[in-house]
Amino acid sequence: MKKVVLVTGASSGIGLSIANYLHLQKKYIVYGTSRKINNSSNFSFNLIELDVTEKSSVQRCIAEILKKESKIDILINNAGVGITGPLEEIPTSEINKHFQTNVIGPILLIKQVLPFMKSSKNGVIINITSVAGQIATPFRSIYSGGKAALEIISETLAMEVRSFGIDVVSIAPGDFNTNISKRRFHSPVINTSDYKSYAESLKKMNLGVNKGSDPEKIAKLVSTILLKRRPRIRYRVGSFIEKNGIILKRILPQRIYEKLILKLFS
Ligand SMILES: NC(=O)c1ccc[n+]([C@@H]2O[C@H](COP(=O)([O-])OP(=O)(O)OC[C@H]3O[C@@H](n4cnc5c(N)ncnc54)[C@H](OP(=O)(O)O)[C@@H]3O)[C@@H](O)[C@H]2O)c1
Repeated sequence: MKKVVLVTGASSGIGLSIANYLHLQKKYIVYGTSRKINNSSNFSFNLIELDVTEKSSVQRCIAEILKKESKIDILINNAGVGITGPLEEIPTSEINKHFQTNVIGPILLIKQVLPFMKSSKNGVIINITSVAGQIATPFRSIYSGGKAALEIISETLAMEVRSFGIDVVSIAPGDFNTNISKRRFHSPVINTSDYKSYAESLKKMNLGVNKGSDPEKIAKLVSTILLKRRPRIRYRVGSFIEKNGIILKRILPQRIYEKLILKLFS
């Protein structure tokens, strides 16, 4: 029997790659989401409407899938946005919006699918976090904070729901070539700002995404994880340095590590 997969934020980038890849495997019935579904016929999988910041939209999305399929086996919490800027200069309204999308949104989805996964004693929840949630770099405080929160939530939840036969996994990607840098909220570069290195740092962040890996790499990893009987809680995917940079953080003295990060990212 085919497994029913929900991939949030499947109109572009990583979500689109995952949804397409799983759809092609024929083992899954794939539902992807977007806030705009007027072009749904352009997608090979089922595209349904979802805004993760609206509880009623999350409820409608889950109800629609359950009405058609009577189950959801796999939730891939991928929808998300970026945000950059010196913490002091990012408008609080943008910070709230960011956490609503990248942290509260995935939680709303999890809360909706858990009752069904628990009753069927089966389920996989994959949260797309980020290497930025493990390695802090300047001018990404809010993004890193949100991803770190989602990562630790994944770890906690894994312990809470393991006895119901549900696996929770966090996949932390490095830089991948998607639309994220074009769509993210960039605090404006202010000429009179005290944070002189932000402009250069922003250029480097955008370049990192543009030169990033092909999102299909993440789709392949998701597909491999879904075949595992006992998946790990944490996976990192990206270049060698993105996957292993965390080791430097553990072994280098803090001051030297910070100098290295500042040299690379500002
Ligand atoms: N690209 C990277 O380098 C990278 C690295 C680490 C982690 N990530 C994470 O990977 C995930 C996907 O990002 P991406 O790089 O593929 O970016 P992307 O190309 O901009 O795609 C983002 C997706 O999220 C959806 N989305 C945004 N806000 C939403 C909302 N309020 N409700 C529902 N859907 C929403 C968008 O759908 P619509 O606009 O159609 O609604 C779109 O499908 C994000 O969680 C991101 O933080 C990306």
